[in-house]
Amino acid sequence: MPETQTPEDPQDQVASASKAFEQEFERFVRFTGSAASLQELSLADAEAEQRALAELRTRHLGKKSALATCKKSIGRIAPANRAAFGQIVQASEARIVSAVENAELVLKKHIDEARVEQESIDVTLPGRRLRQGHLHPITLLREKIEDIFVALGYAIEDDREIETDFYNFDALNIPQTHPARAPQDTFYTTDSFALRSQTSTVQIHAMQRRGAPLRMIAPGRVFRRDTPDPTHNPMFFQVEGLCVDRGITMAHLKGTVAEFLRRMFGPKTVTRFRPSYFPFTEPSAEFDFSCFKCGGSGCRICKNSGWIELGGSGMVHPNVLRAVGVDPEEFSGFAFGLGIDRMCALMYGLDDIRLLFENDIRFLEQFN
Ligand code: FA5
Repeated sequence: MPETQTPEDPQDQVASASKAFEQEFERFVRFTGSAASLQELSLADAEAEQRALAELRTRHLGKKSALATCKKSIGRIAPANRAAFGQIVQASEARIVSAVENAELVLKKHIDEARVEQESIDVTLPGRRLRQGHLHPITLLREKIEDIFVALGYAIEDDREIETDFYNFDALNIPQTHPARAPQDTFYTTDSFALRSQTSTVQIHAMQRRGAPLRMIAPGRVFRRDTPDPTHNPMFFQVEGLCVDRGITMAHLKGTVAEFLRRMFGPKTVTRFRPSYFPFTEPSAEFDFSCFKCGGSGCRICKNSGWIELGGSGMVHPNVLRAVGVDPEEFSGFAFGLGIDRMCALMYGLDDIRLLFENDIRFLEQFN
């Protein structure tokens, strides 16, 4: 009786598993067998081949592979043929494992070498330019103002930006009914606390801390509920100045402001004072200086007036001195305050102070 050979014949199954492997593995033979073909493989292609090889390994040697099925069937082979069949299966598996491992090794070596080559540094390439930072124009101007006043014997004070009603208003002789206290004008944080709207608050802290006599300036950030426009920002910078001593008069105020402006804008600068009103000074005056651009003849910067308005000033009100325990019978003082942002805009010819806080690097780079 002729021996029946069905596709389920275990030996045929091993043979067909080996054949299927050989067919799929052929594409890997291309570069495992030829160094030249391997060199043609780019890093990305080699990595793709590595992934494909891993999948091929699972397909032909994994738990669900045809070879694994053959191994499981060894037990069902007639005892007389079992050993021979087992050897066939083992030999076939060994061939596949060896071919795959060899291909894996070749690919891994090639990938490692390609990575090293790609990651190596070309020391002849030009370097990347380091961007060097620089000071903001407001800081440049603030430092210039500080230098002038330090040379005149003034200390520099710094203080908090959130204040109580006492420092914002009461101690500065600002009456309960004053519009500056209204929430439309001041940023209140919580009841009785507000962002300071002027650096005059530092006068109070400085006198409480150091008593009289004293000479100080206080540059810093202030906040007002002003709608932004070319000359207004809700946040801007001021410098406060305060001098308290025995026998201080309006003449000291005028001499000091005039000297500051001469050092700032040149020896020919002329200063003028106009009567004004501030609750914390009496008498009060606003001060202007002759235009640094045209010298007073009239130009675009000074709007053809020859003068530039800069800030407010006056003799410290006796109530302010009393609020901090300084005897107004013994001491008198002057104070002044000016806005740094507008001064900065004037000096650098800016049409709009909002430019200062837009953080546009093309604008800021010009002050390097
Ligand atoms: C004051 O703030 C007073 N504390 C000045 C003072 C100090 C007077 C000491 C007497 C004694 P004034 O409100 O005028 O004054 O503001 C001073 C300067 O701040 C102005 O001249 C202006 O340059 C600037 N300033 C005011 N509001 C704004 C704003 N919204 N944006 C930019 N700058 C401003």
